Amino acid sequence: MAAGIDDIAIYIPRLYVDAADFADGRGVDPAKLQKGLGVSQMAMVDTNQDPACLAANACLRIMQKNKLSPEDIGRLYVSTESSFDESKAMNSYVVGMLEQVYGQGTFEHCGGVETKFACVSGSYALYDNANWIRAGESDDKAALVVVSDIAKYDMGSSGEMTQGAGAVVMLLNDNPRLLAFDPKVTATSIKDEYDFYRPFGKETPIVHGQYSNLLYLIQVRKALDLYKEKSLNTGLIKLKPGETILDHIDYFNMHLPYSNMGKKALAYMVRREWRQLPRWNDIIKKIGVAEPTPKDPRGTIESVLGDAEFMAKDHEFTKLFTETSEFQEIYETKLASSLIASKMIGNLYTASLYLGFRSSLEFEYQKEMDLDGKRVGFGSYGSGSSAMVFSGVIMPEYASVVKDMNLESEIGPRRKLTLEEYEIIHESKLAPEQSMLNPKKEFILVDVKTDDESRGERRYAYNT
Ligand code: HMG
Repeated sequence: MAAGIDDIAIYIPRLYVDAADFADGRGVDPAKLQKGLGVSQMAMVDTNQDPACLAANACLRIMQKNKLSPEDIGRLYVSTESSFDESKAMNSYVVGMLEQVYGQGTFEHCGGVETKFACVSGSYALYDNANWIRAGESDDKAALVVVSDIAKYDMGSSGEMTQGAGAVVMLLNDNPRLLAFDPKVTATSIKDEYDFYRPFGKETPIVHGQYSNLLYLIQVRKALDLYKEKSLNTGLIKLKPGETILDHIDYFNMHLPYSNMGKKALAYMVRREWRQLPRWNDIIKKIGVAEPTPKDPRGTIESVLGDAEFMAKDHEFTKLFTETSEFQEIYETKLASSLIASKMIGNLYTASLYLGFRSSLEFEYQKEMDLDGKRVGFGSYGSGSSAMVFSGVIMPEYASVVKDMNLESEIGPRRKLTLEEYEIIHESKLAPEQSMLNPKKEFILVDVKTDDESRGERRYAYNT
């Protein structure tokens, strides 16, 4: 039985910080954000929004757009790493909000959990729900998988340049209009690591930035190796001499903590695949320098990062490689459209990969590309750490859904924050009722109780 993504909806908060203002305030060259990281704007939550509100707003949009009633939904999963309760799952808040619109008890039949594994957990949730459908357990009902996060780093830290917020919801069923997952090829890797983590009670993560960059690449490559093995063994992909598996993937979507990480990841994967092929000789001739190797090629991530000479040479080699017409072609045709939304919005942790997919669909459609039957590869990464690589094929009916996608109108009119306003919100100095915006037809956070009896209880309203 087929299983896949029938539709996607997004909810992005309308407040944002402009990269140039941010750079100015922190004394950083704006080009570092705009060109170095690929960050133009970072979406910020208002004082009356939390990740549950973002998730519920996205769910309401997809349900209204597809005229779904709660009876049509069998499972509602929320994946997040911005949880505010150690026990009560974010799903329950989301269901509570949706029932304000659809009626109390209307989601009672529905199951689901909150899943956590940094940014990769949404991919595990998609996989589990796709398998629920494939197993014939869904009783003709659909699943909603919503990925929702607020990427917030300490003020003054290097991560602060890569913040963002938003939710993406995917409607899964057995007759998807957008994308059917390829069966039996989903591949994972996992390793106990401390590249990025958020201990209990701490609002912002502890981050080892450069370590996390390299670990992301290594973990995704390990998952890709397994994907390769599985897709060759199952016969999904058949390689001719001189080909790589990447030649058979028409579009790539990578986890995007900042948009340029997508390009870094693509370059890393392509280099490692092409290195084994005759075409690499031509690339090396073009670049004019040999590919550098670390002093200790079997060393740890720390030893590689500590090998300053190798790091500098490798940086230069990567730069020259990404400038070749061969790489540029892959980048422009297979990846670039997925990066557009990330530049405008920032890191959405669990939702970043899927915002990228959504972006790729909209902007490739605008280029009048025929997407029917195209294979899309996904590279998901979550710190701590785990990666998942999987793929799917775009369905013939995709255009009926994609034609209405419009990022700008779906975000709505945005309000730029001054750096002062941003800092006040970042430091949580304002109460929900002191919000900057008062959006209509959206769920908002009303208050969080502080008395001993009901501490942490959250009240939400649908703002009519
Ligand atoms: P940094 O170390 O300050 O930046 O912070 P940098 O020195 O690496 O510079 C960034 C890029 O800007 C480089 O480009 C520079 O060359 C360039 P690259 O060499 O990589 O191509 N640059 C400039 N370009 C033009 N003009 C200039 C200029 N100056 C520099 N003047 C870092 C970067 C990502 C480490 C930091 O922002 C950070 O710690 N971010 C948070 C962690 C993160 O995003 N890690 C990514 C991988 S881990 C992951 O994705 C998981 C995550 O999403 C969490 C989860 O799973 O839950 C984070």
